[in-house]
Amino acid sequence: MVKGSQIFSLSVTLLFFICGKTYGTDTDIFCLKSIKDSIKDPYKNLQSWNFSSKTEGFICKFIGVECWHPDENRVLNLKLSDMSLRGPLPHGIGNCTSLTGLDLSGNNLSGSIPENIATLVPFITSLDLSSNQFSGAIPLSLANCTYINTIKLDQNHLSGQIPQQLALLPRLRNFTVSNNSLVGPVPNFTNGHVVVNYSNNKGLCGPSLKPCPNN
Ligand SMILES: *[C@@H]1O[C@H](CO)[C@@H](O)[C@H](O)[C@H]1NC(C)=O
Ligand SMILES: *[C@@H]1O[C@H](CO)[C@@H](O)[C@H](O)[C@H]1NC(C)=O
Ligand SMILES: *[C@@H]1O[C@H](CO)[C@@H](O)[C@H](O)[C@H]1NC(C)=O
Ligand SMILES: *[C@@H]1O[C@H](CO)[C@@H](O)[C@H](O)[C@H]1NC(C)=O
Ligand SMILES: *[C@@H]1O[C@H](CO)[C@@H](O)[C@H](O)[C@H]1NC(C)=O
Ligand SMILES: *[C@@H]1O[C@H](CO)[C@@H](O)[C@H](O)[C@H]1NC(C)=O
Ligand SMILES: *[C@@H]1O[C@H](CO)[C@@H](O)[C@H](O)[C@H]1NC(C)=O
Ligand SMILES: *[C@@H]1O[C@H](CO)[C@@H](O)[C@H](O)[C@H]1NC(C)=O
Repeated sequence: MVKGSQIFSLSVTLLFFICGKTYGTDTDIFCLKSIKDSIKDPYKNLQSWNFSSKTEGFICKFIGVECWHPDENRVLNLKLSDMSLRGPLPHGIGNCTSLTGLDLSGNNLSGSIPENIATLVPFITSLDLSSNQFSGAIPLSLANCTYINTIKLDQNHLSGQIPQQLALLPRLRNFTVSNNSLVGPVPNFTNGHVVVNYSNNKGLCGPSLKPCPNN
């Protein structure tokens, strides 16, 4: 005789299995789909991103996609540099929930860097948005990306002040923002290990630059 508790535990196991499968892989597929849909790709660099297959790991063969394991649809790094891509930074990136590296350098992406960048890519260790057309301010929430060690924002149209809170990022090693329109004091990186490049901005000041006005 089958007891109620057995049916219950079987249902829980089944639910777990179904949900686990949906969550483990489908979100990353959805992520890449939404990136492909939202980005303008005039030279069809992402044409190889064909979602008709459903085998485990099929997205790992896409150009620019690196998975944690070649037979598991879970994205580790996205490297979509120098592809003449246009449009805003795709919010769909937030569905690549295990992403650690994002390289979109050398494209024509525009708009601002999302205010909620830390919620979109909480485990990011390397962010390269250099040589694009990004504008607006560097979001404060970048200071909440606690695993980040490289931030490259050179050659954009970023303006405003750099969030001072970036100085608190425990693993930061490279922070480069050359050729933007940034102003005001640079973060006071005191651990001595951070390589910076502030050249060709509008009016940055502070350690290693001209002193900031006292007010
Ligand atoms: C995707 O692959 C399928 C099966 O290999 C093929 O029939 C289809 O034409 C491809 N789609 C695109 C957009 O290339
Ligand atoms: C960006 O767009 C401009 C204007 O359309 C074009 O001249 C330039 O080559 C593009 N740059 C890249 C890196 O695609
Ligand atoms: C992730 O995908 C879900 C749909 O599956 C969507 O509702 C949600 O907005 C997406 N999240 C992000 C950050 O794009
Ligand atoms: C950073 O994270 C803290 C704690 O989760 C949160 O309270 C704060 O609003 C976040 N800051 C930004 C700018 O997102
Ligand atoms: C970080 O800076 C070091 C020292 O200049 C350099 O060797 C390294 O290539 C940089 N890393 C990146 C990702 O730019
Ligand atoms: C800093 O950035 C400028 C402009 O991108 C570049 O010319 C220069 O070589 C960089 N300096 C260092 C030390 O990397
Ligand atoms: C950076 O800015 C300087 C000064 O405006 C300019 O000469 C140089 O070509 C720029 N470098 C890049 C890589 O855009
Ligand atoms: C940067 O931090 C150091 C050590 O905490 C401190 O001595 C120095 O005055 C600070 N500099 C600025 C410009 O805030």
